[in-house]
Amino acid sequence: MRVALAGLGDIGLGAHLPALLRHPDVEVVQLCDPDPRRRAAAAEQLKARPVEIGAEVDIDAVDGVVLATPPWVTPELTVRYARAGLFVLAEKPVATSTEAARIYEQLTDDQRHRVQVGLTYRHDPAIQQLKTWIDNGTLGTPVLARAHIYDEPRDATNPEHTARITATLAHGTPVVHEGAHVFDWLSHLLGGQPASCDDAWSHQTRPDLPAPNVTGARLSYPGGHQALVEFGWLTTALSRCELTFLGDRGLATLDGFTFDLQLTTADGRRDITFPGDRTTRCFDRQLQRFTDLYDGTRKAGEPSLDDGIAALRTAELVAGRAR
Ligand SMILES: NC(=O)c1ccc[n+]([C@@H]2O[C@H](COP(=O)([O-])OP(=O)(O)OC[C@H]3O[C@@H](n4cnc5c(N)ncnc54)[C@H](O)[C@@H]3O)[C@@H](O)[C@H]2O)c1
Repeated sequence: MRVALAGLGDIGLGAHLPALLRHPDVEVVQLCDPDPRRRAAAAEQLKARPVEIGAEVDIDAVDGVVLATPPWVTPELTVRYARAGLFVLAEKPVATSTEAARIYEQLTDDQRHRVQVGLTYRHDPAIQQLKTWIDNGTLGTPVLARAHIYDEPRDATNPEHTARITATLAHGTPVVHEGAHVFDWLSHLLGGQPASCDDAWSHQTRPDLPAPNVTGARLSYPGGHQALVEFGWLTTALSRCELTFLGDRGLATLDGFTFDLQLTTADGRRDITFPGDRTTRCFDRQLQRFTDLYDGTRKAGEPSLDDGIAALRTAELVAGRAR
């Protein structure tokens, strides 16, 4: 599969490019970014590999494109490349609002099926293990899910990072960006989209931030499952990042960074870790699904554009209710 990577920022060069270079069935044909500094950083990372580096994807030279672009850029590019017949792996969130996501209505069903959304951590074996425990009643039913997602600290020694995350905050509270992943996991684990958002709140830790940097909500899922979610960015220290699933018979805890799992039931405590680091594991599995889509092993992108839009809808519901 001949692939272009568009967006040579943090996640593009840090996770997508290494995964693309590791995959035996992928040929990295082009790297694209309008920012010459990002193109220079890519050239340095590639060393002597012969890959074309430019500002825009040459549609005729590739079978697929990975979009590691900001969410205010991704929708228009996804539509452009899917309509040109390419397979598209598009980073989450799929847009900054459901209104902005309406551009995807321009795609035919066939074009839509060629789009896979970068809800990367859905692919982790820890999520599959949790699903098994919830579905087979190991934890008891219903469960109370608690997601505490605290990331992107304000680091005085890294002003570039703080500036970038502050700029992202101006395009929506952390729930829109982090919620893309978390609401996708929760709907996957708890049997569907939430029936309601019952309560929500937000909190701003400094007046000079462009939006509240901590947001939370209580949601009801099918089957009586409940979820309490919290998202926080840009504080000097962070609360613990973890998800817990508590039922009458057991408690499962997922470390938010490593995805190490812990299960406690009447039989005692089990710790489960999976080989390798979470990023490598998940970006490799994600890319494998993308090549499966290209060679026809899979008939539609998974997670799909609809999954990405559903997660965005929940995030928007929470952000709106909190406001
Ligand atoms: N799946 C994951 O685990 C994961 C992790 C981190 C970030 N992300 C998502 O990835 C996206 C990028 O995040 P990031 O942290 O790398 O941001 P970033 O700002 O570091 O990188 C984005 C890059 O896209 C480039 N760009 C802008 N317009 C472009 C265009 N038209 N064509 C090509 N490139 C263009 C920018 O110049 C920049 O280099 C965001 O949507 C973010 O939410 C996903």
